[in-house]
Amino acid sequence: VHAFFRVLAIAKAMIAAVGAPQRSRALRSFGKTRMDADFLDFAFHDDHAAIATALAAAVGREPQALRLIGSKSRTDELCVALTRRGHQIERLVWSYADPIPASGIGAGILCEVPKTFDDWSKCAALTANGSIEPIWRLVLPWSLLREMLSIYEYNAATLSDLIEVYRGRSKTHVGHRENARLQRVEEFLPLAGKTIIEFGPSDGNQTADLLALGAAHVLAVEGRPENVVKLLVVKWLMGWRNLDVVLDNFQSPGSWARRRYDFVYAQGVYYHCQNPLLFLDMLTRLGDSIFIGGWTATDEKPRSPWISLEHDGRGYRGKVYTESYHFLSGLAEQSYMLDRSEIERFLTERGFLIKYCDVSTAENGLSTEFTHLLAMRDSSSAGA
Ligand SMILES: C[S@@+](CC[C@H](N)C(=O)[O-])C[C@H]1O[C@@H](n2cnc3c(N)ncnc32)[C@H](O)[C@@H]1O
Repeated sequence: VHAFFRVLAIAKAMIAAVGAPQRSRALRSFGKTRMDADFLDFAFHDDHAAIATALAAAVGREPQALRLIGSKSRTDELCVALTRRGHQIERLVWSYADPIPASGIGAGILCEVPKTFDDWSKCAALTANGSIEPIWRLVLPWSLLREMLSIYEYNAATLSDLIEVYRGRSKTHVGHRENARLQRVEEFLPLAGKTIIEFGPSDGNQTADLLALGAAHVLAVEGRPENVVKLLVVKWLMGWRNLDVVLDNFQSPGSWARRRYDFVYAQGVYYHCQNPLLFLDMLTRLGDSIFIGGWTATDEKPRSPWISLEHDGRGYRGKVYTESYHFLSGLAEQSYMLDRSEIERFLTERGFLIKYCDVSTAENGLSTEFTHLLAMRDSSSAGA
């Protein structure tokens, strides 16, 4: 009997030893290794800087006086983040281990997160009259972006840059993006109140600017599922009711092409087509104002030889190149890039005037030049 209990004890110890790593794996898979984490820590992968960024986003850009209630360790980083953005912070040090004072704890943002039976009772008592806002109600929506950043690559690398981008019209350079191109468009076509079709929005960094400029409606056509997920998340988060997203390969006109738009926005996409001339032709049928931004072929790059691409009985100079696999790339292995002047010729042949054509040079891109142009239908032309 004694030997039996010894074997049983050894077996129990072995099961416990095997079980322990399983438990810690389960915690890690929940984004955690810390046993004392609360549900807000879980939501933000224990990233307290991200919680502070989210709180700053939730309270808005206008500097204001805020009162934070919580332990020193819970509120220190929040205070720094909010003060840095110009908010005035008053702090009351209180945690669930403390009794609720008879006079209450006043109004403010409750930064402590309840975990136990007693914590939740105290939390219910404190928040009953509505003058105290629990922190998670303010910051949890933004945890979605933190979650997405842990899974997918975006144009912006950090949560605060991503929030900055999604608020629209962010400063010229945030992460790998810039928004000066829309300021240029607005010199010719104010976008407020306009219907827009946007091709290949990727994570929606330009969509944010189109909406912030007052677009009446944006229809975004994107062919990569991971990007559509990003767009749906930000649509929900930012409450962009006037954005619709279509998951489609934009080289073949879907039902979205059965109507016309005030502005056709094709930034960073024509050169991801396997037949860019078919794509450009489609753009000319979708509206009278077309923006095209993209790499244009030069003698130096891509390194393949010039070839003639045929469309509608005419030839246009272009080059083939090999795509990489990335959230910003094309949907096939090879795509074509055109000579800049050939894009202009293609559009003028179809009754458009080139309002501007800005060219910037680059050393490390797919080509040595990147072109932005705005074409508007020539209302005096015979085909108008
Ligand atoms: C270079 S990124 C441009 C992103 C964005 N417009 C910008 O300028 O920041 C190209 C985008 O087009 C999408 N795309 C490429 N080829 C596509 C196709 N044939 N149909 C639909 N989307 C496509 C990619 O998934 C990616 O989001």
